[in-house]
Amino acid sequence: MKVVIFSASGFERNHLEAANAGRHELRWLPAGLDAQTALLAKDCDAACLFVNDDAKAEVLEILAQNGVRYLALRSAGFNHVDLEAAQRLKLRVANVPEYSPYAVAEHAVALMLALNRKLIRANRRVEDLNFLLDGLVGFDMNGKTAGIVGTGKIGAVLARILHGFGCRLLAYDLTENPDLARFDLTYTDLDTLFRNADIISLHVPLNPQTRYMINAENIAKMKRGVMLINTSRGGLVNTKEVVQALKSGQIGSLGLDVYEEEQALFFEDHSNDILQDDTIARLLTFPNVLITAHQAFLTDTALKNIADTTFANLTCFEYNQPCGHELFAR
Ligand code: NAI
Repeated sequence: MKVVIFSASGFERNHLEAANAGRHELRWLPAGLDAQTALLAKDCDAACLFVNDDAKAEVLEILAQNGVRYLALRSAGFNHVDLEAAQRLKLRVANVPEYSPYAVAEHAVALMLALNRKLIRANRRVEDLNFLLDGLVGFDMNGKTAGIVGTGKIGAVLARILHGFGCRLLAYDLTENPDLARFDLTYTDLDTLFRNADIISLHVPLNPQTRYMINAENIAKMKRGVMLINTSRGGLVNTKEVVQALKSGQIGSLGLDVYEEEQALFFEDHSNDILQDDTIARLLTFPNVLITAHQAFLTDTALKNIADTTFANLTCFEYNQPCGHELFAR
């Protein structure tokens, strides 16, 4: 088969090539998928997409018109794909539901610790031979209350790690995971979690119910000085309202691996450009904000698993077999 790989990055190429093992003809495109680049899929049987590829109806129509019949997502999240349109166009879609919940949960903890212990500021000072400690005071994680929003695969790993730190755990999910009781985790409603947590970490998918779950109204319920971590999807957070809460001190620190307008920025070098996004520009001025550019998944284990599952999905498509990862029934 011919497979076009959109948003192809150097960091994943060796894993994808190894998983393909020369089987399919691969067309590497560093460009993301949109209405302009969709034409570059001409004559390919399958298109392989990453998280910020824009698979809206109009784009899917161009892919289908050009012969594409299968979308192999190199991600767990599929909020960037119009599944109704895909179904209408008879485009099959498969994702990689699990590749390493550890990678993402561990990155969430990395953000927590770096913010709490002010590691970036501390390192900058030391590099400047400034060995003062004023302004670097953190808190013990032990005994703090962490609120985990979404206890699926990633939230469950986070629960285990934070239990190890001695945190008290509150959680909110539509479905309770009874296995987490062994980590002294208590399920509660979202309001109670917001009111009681010292640290809040988001691990629900982005959908109409979860969009902007972090907004001014909910931020007002939180403990003053709360730490907020989002490694899930940018659209969970109303960033402009979070900026206001950072200015007032209601949010004490913010760790983001995802951003609602990340599509225009992340995964590309903009270091020679004039930044047009005033919201992220404002976020970058806060000493208590730490942003990474959607890299929570970026471990060698996760990349290998993503590549292996993606090509296993493609093989199922080639032989017309069910792969178990398709997002709707045929
Ligand atoms: P999962 O599907 O295992 O868990 C999601 C949990 O959210 C489920 O337990 C589900 O019941 C719950 N949920 C769904 N809608 C809800 C709602 N309206 N209210 C409360 N709970 C709700 O997903 P997993 O693997 O834990 O991933 C979570 C999210 O992390 C993904 O959706 C994706 O957006 C994000 N992610 C981010 C990555 C990164 O590199 N930053 C990498 C991988 C995933």
